[in-house]
Amino acid sequence: MGLFRKKEAVSQAVPTHIAIVMDGNGRWARKRGLPRKAGHKVGAEAFRTIANYAKTIGLKYLTVYAFSTENWKRADEEVHAIMQLLEQYLREAIADMDKNRVRFCFFGDLTQLSPALQEEARIAAQRSKRYEGVQVNFCLNYGGRVEIVRAAQRFARDCVEGKCAPEALTQEGFSDLLYSSGVPDPELVIRPGGELRTSNFLLWQSAYAEYYFTDVLWPDFGPKELDKAIAAYNARNRRFGGAK
Ligand code: IPE
Ligand code: IPE
Ligand code: MG
Repeated sequence: MGLFRKKEAVSQAVPTHIAIVMDGNGRWARKRGLPRKAGHKVGAEAFRTIANYAKTIGLKYLTVYAFSTENWKRADEEVHAIMQLLEQYLREAIADMDKNRVRFCFFGDLTQLSPALQEEARIAAQRSKRYEGVQVNFCLNYGGRVEIVRAAQRFARDCVEGKCAPEALTQEGFSDLLYSSGVPDPELVIRPGGELRTSNFLLWQSAYAEYYFTDVLWPDFGPKELDKAIAAYNARNRRFGGAK
């Protein structure tokens, strides 16, 4: 089975950049009569598996939505549990870095996170810079609208300081002001968990992305599911506004 999967994966074209909304942890736990945090724990394992699989199929960028600017609305207990898991995850990722060779980047306002988590994110990004396989963009306290407003503020500040002129701004120039500066737009955005919305994820970057929705809950989303999403993507006709 494992062998068959590998063969199937290499035989199909893999996009450069895939983004995933890692949704459904809470429902996965509820179905089993477990606390929500148990779902987040298994969800973190699912991420580990997918990040390693992404490397084996030659994906260049994997962007994952781990915690949104809206997720602070949840009960303190759940937010605390998620933050603890993230800390634990990053500690382990830093320890296993040379084995996994994944380059870490972080998108979002990290200043609102605990000093310990901020420090781990900084170390993970700094030490993994040298790896050349897949780059994982971890979206933490990320919101697409906040990202766009922050970019507009940065541009306005540069204008006020006389460093640029409003009419000189281009789409490419604006992209460079986002968290994702330098990263090509995702060709494919995957949302497990059954919801049919973006929930404020990569609003600018996914202008022409193909969306793939599945009812599979994130903790159950494995390499086979990723293969299915890539196969669905390969069957799409991307016109970009043209006619063919
Ligand atoms: C995604 O799973 C994880 C985060 C948003 C942090 P959820 O916790 O949203 O799981 P559901 O949607 O309630 O099942
Ligand atoms: C989106 O999932 C955010 C993450 C997966 C981190 P949510 O569960 O927060 O989204 P909604 O509430 O269903 O829109
Ligand atoms: Mg959810």
